[in-house]
Parts: sequence; structure tokens; C-alpha cells
Amino acid sequence: MESVQSRTVDYQQLRSAITWDVARRELGVVEGGSLNIADLCIDRHVMAGRGDKVALVHENHEGELRRFTYRDLMLLTNGWAAFLRGLGIRNLDRVCLFLDRVPELYIGFMGILKLGAVVEPLFSAFGEDALHSRMEDSAATAIITERKHLGKVRRVRERVPSLKTIIVIDQEADGRPLREGEVAYSMMANQLVTFPAFRAFPETPSVLHYTSGTTGKPKGAMHVHGSVFAQYLTSKVVLDLKDDDVYWCTADPGWVTGTSYGIIGPWAMGATEVVLDAGFSSDRWYQTIEKHRVTVWYTAPTAIRMLMKDGLDPVARHDHSSLRHMCSVGEPLNPEAVRWGREAFGLDFHDTFWQTETGAIMITNLPGMPVKPGSMGRPFPALEAAVVDPRSGEPITSPGRVGLIAIRPPWPSMMRTYWNNSATYYGKFLNGWYICGDQASLDRDGYFWFCGRDDDVINTGGHLVGPFEIESALLEHEAVAESAAIGKPDPVNMEVVKVFVALRPGFTPSADLELSIMNHVRKRLSPLAMPQEIAFVDKVPKTRSGKILRRVLRAQELGQPIGDISTMDDN
Ligand code: WT7
Repeated sequence: MESVQSRTVDYQQLRSAITWDVARRELGVVEGGSLNIADLCIDRHVMAGRGDKVALVHENHEGELRRFTYRDLMLLTNGWAAFLRGLGIRNLDRVCLFLDRVPELYIGFMGILKLGAVVEPLFSAFGEDALHSRMEDSAATAIITERKHLGKVRRVRERVPSLKTIIVIDQEADGRPLREGEVAYSMMANQLVTFPAFRAFPETPSVLHYTSGTTGKPKGAMHVHGSVFAQYLTSKVVLDLKDDDVYWCTADPGWVTGTSYGIIGPWAMGATEVVLDAGFSSDRWYQTIEKHRVTVWYTAPTAIRMLMKDGLDPVARHDHSSLRHMCSVGEPLNPEAVRWGREAFGLDFHDTFWQTETGAIMITNLPGMPVKPGSMGRPFPALEAAVVDPRSGEPITSPGRVGLIAIRPPWPSMMRTYWNNSATYYGKFLNGWYICGDQASLDRDGYFWFCGRDDDVINTGGHLVGPFEIESALLEHEAVAESAAIGKPDPVNMEVVKVFVALRPGFTPSADLELSIMNHVRKRLSPLAMPQEIAFVDKVPKTRSGKILRRVLRAQELGQPIGDISTMDDN
């Protein structure tokens, strides 16, 4: 298949040329045959004589660089797989990754898959409650972490009975004693020439990613080894990756962008990937593009808005002439952000829409397809997607009418279930469509325009935060009697968390109490979930059956009509 970057694409023609079968054939997998993501993303390249190619360029906070070739990855993932097997970890066991963006995170991810175990990536800034609920739900057997996060893991250990082993990757450098059930592992000291990758099939579980919901604890979207067909093909067609590309995905592997397109996709394509393990600053980001001569860049609207805030001067101070393609994901990409990108880099940011549950890009602006600023683009050519009526599930064809974004199953990277929660999984389908839970409309050209989520989930900087999780954490605070969490519009982060709190008798609102409540949520859950604003109220609006009416609070906040409140409890 020829590159689509340099010419205007004929969308209809792509729809007939691009099928999932193309991915299977190009990856050399026999129909109905076995495969393993780690083998396809790593060993396959070494066997084809590309072992010396750099797979990972890692830059830490101090600017120190480490390079890993595909051959290095092969030896190191063999080492990981053998070590984990030696611990008694078997295929399908859940193994958590709880690490900053160190090389062990990326390489350990593939080592777990090579063994045939299930990877459960967890964001390293998670607090105890967030860590606990996910590990408990998945009944994880092992967790790979580093000294700086070991304290948190130790504090939840008692409450996760399935957890047998805690693996510490930087024990050498630390030296403080480990406890029973904790083992040290030094990745670089464990390179192994062979390890036969577990013979998985397309339906064999691979990655378990937790995502926030509205009504309950986070849900674990279970993915399978066959997902690689979708991640490969979308990396090729949407990200336009080729094997001479230097690719930078700014997302953390605690979230699906950081695994589907921060690990699997680029390595399936045999590209060179850059990882920056440092906080955000516009100068540092432009330096990264300049220093590594990044050609393809995948980032998020919140990051783009932060870059925009710093203006065009820092852009001009750096050489970004290597860039040839830019994509964005996670939240609506504002038309101003697209226009700014054109001015700053002379290129379009190509929006991509998808979810933890979909595993790969679903709706997008393909390279070479005219970008309409503010639109998410059109369905990935191998897919059927529509905007459907929320009641009947029938596609809405009249332009501009809002409905629900729907995708026709199956596709290779679709979640196969929510772990332990198949009832919720089956509830996601209507009239033969998978319903994403987002609202959109179509225009005359078949482009999708995002309107908003169809539920109460808060999207802050591209990361979903469940109001239920926040409210549960708030209830653990001694001063809180009831609470409700909503997303409040924010110019940079799209939304920030705002909470409404009714206090217990004996507590009065104060600045100190506000701080204490904010910190409580940050420590229990994560910095992203921390409320930026707290309103003290006498009571929280609820239905007669006790469901929190967040939409009433949201409407009040935005000065919009409150809508139907016939079910509201007015006592
Ligand atoms: C939700 C999924 C998949 C990558 C990161 C998020 C929102 C995602 C877009 C976009 C508008 C978007 C939706 C979606 N979202 N991409 N291009 N335009 N909204 O994964 O945490 O599972 O969140 O993020 O609401 O349902 P996630």
C-alpha cells in the first residue's frame, strides 16, 4: 500500500483498499493462526534483519539518553518473560505495571505479553484508592514498580489478597531491604537469547486497561492479542508511520493512547520511538522535536492549548523542520488549535477519536484528507461508524442532527468484555451497534462533529475521571456528609473537577478545610482527580431513589435550563 501523505486521498477508494485482512497479511499471520503481540512488534523485525534499528530513544528528566535497538528489546523481553515465569506467573495472570515512564515500563509491557500473561498498566501518580480498586477488581498476581512508589503498593497489599509478588526494578540503586513477597529485578542484567513467545490466538487476552465510569468503580476493558491488526493498520494509515520515522507520542502508558500508540503501534511498524520522561514545558517539548528530529507527533488538545498559551516565540527558537505529520486525541480539538498549528508548524493537527474500549482510532482525519477545523473527520476506512438515534439505534442521515456515535462490531481491537462486569459490557450495544457514549452530528460530506459526552464522566486534559470515584473518596473525609462531582469548563484542560460538598454537623467551611479536602482526593486518587473548586452546600440534589443529579448542578453552573427534575427529591 502506497503512502497517503503526499496526495489527496479518495476516501471511497480507501474504503475498499483498507481491510483488517491487509494487516494480518502484512504482519505475516496465517488466517486462524497463532500470534503474539511481542513477537510481531519485536522479534519479527530482528528475524527480518532489522535488529540494529533503534526502537526506543529514552530521555529522562535530566536529559540523559538511552537507546535500545530491536535486538536489545528482544533480549530484554526474553529476560522479562523468563523471570516472570520463574516467579510462577502463568498465562492469563494479571501483571500490573506501576512505573514512571522508565524503559522498564515499555519493555516490561512486552515481556509480560511474550509470556502470555495479561498486562495491566496503572498510572504511577495513582493514589492508594485508585490503585487498590483496580488491583482488587482484576485480582492481579504481581505488580512491577520502583522504589519511589513502593510505599503506596505496600499500603494496599493487605487489601489485595491475590497479590503474590511485588517486583522492584531499581532495588540495586536503593539498597533498603525488601520485605517478604518482594523481589528485585534488574532488567539490564537479564538478557536472554531465546524465549519462545506464548502462542496466543487473536482472541487471547492481552491488555487490561481501566477506564472511569459514572455509576461505579472503574471498569477494566479487556483487550486481545488480535488488537495488533488494528493498531498496526491505524498506525500505518492514520499516523502514517514508516520505518524511517522518528515518532513521539506524548501520552503516558497508564492510558490507552500510551499503549496502543505509545508501544504497540509504532513497534509493529518498526519505527523509532522517542519517550520523554519529564514534565511539560513548551521549551522542553520543542527541544525534544529538534534534538531527535521527530517526524511524526501524536499529542492531545490540552497540551496544544498549553503550547498556544506560550505563543509562537518558543516555536521560532527551535528547529521543527523534521516534522511532517501531527495528530491529536483525547478531547475535542478546537478549530483555533488547528489554525494555530498551521501557523506554528505549517502543518495540520489531525484529530483522532477513539476510546479505551475501542483500542484503536475509530474516527479521524486521514493524512491527505482535507481537514475541517473542529471536525473529528470520518470513520477509519476499515470500519463502519454512524451517528444513531439514542432510542432506536437507527442511523441519522440528516446533516446537523445530533445523535450517538456508534461503531459496527466487530473490529480487531474492540474490548472483549469489561472484566468482572459483563452486564455493563452488553449494555453498550444497541440495534447491532457499539455505542461509544458520545454525542455527535454528521455534515453533508460525512464528517463527524463532536458535541459532548452522553454521561457524567469528566474529561480533564484528555483523561477521564469518574465522578463516582471522586465522590467515594470524598466520603472518606471526616468532614464530608455528601458530595457531587462535575466537570467545569476550563480554557486549557477542557474541564476541571468541581465538587459540591455538604458538611457533617460540627464542621464549617474554611480555606483550610478546602485544602484538606483537595489534598485528600489528590492523595487517594490522583492529581487529575483533585477538585480545583469546592462549593459548600446544604444538600446535594438527588433523585428520590438517591441518585445524585449531577446534571442539575452542571446546568446551574453553566447557567443553562435545568431540564426535567420530576424525579428530584425535594425534601
Ligand atoms: C473518551 C475516551 C482514546 C484516547 C484517549 C481517551 C473523548 C477521545 C476525542 C476526540 C472529542 C474525544 C470521548 C471518548 N475523546 N478522543 N478526538 N474528540 N472527544 O481514551 O480515556 O477511554 O476516553 O475521550 O469522550 O469517549 P478514554
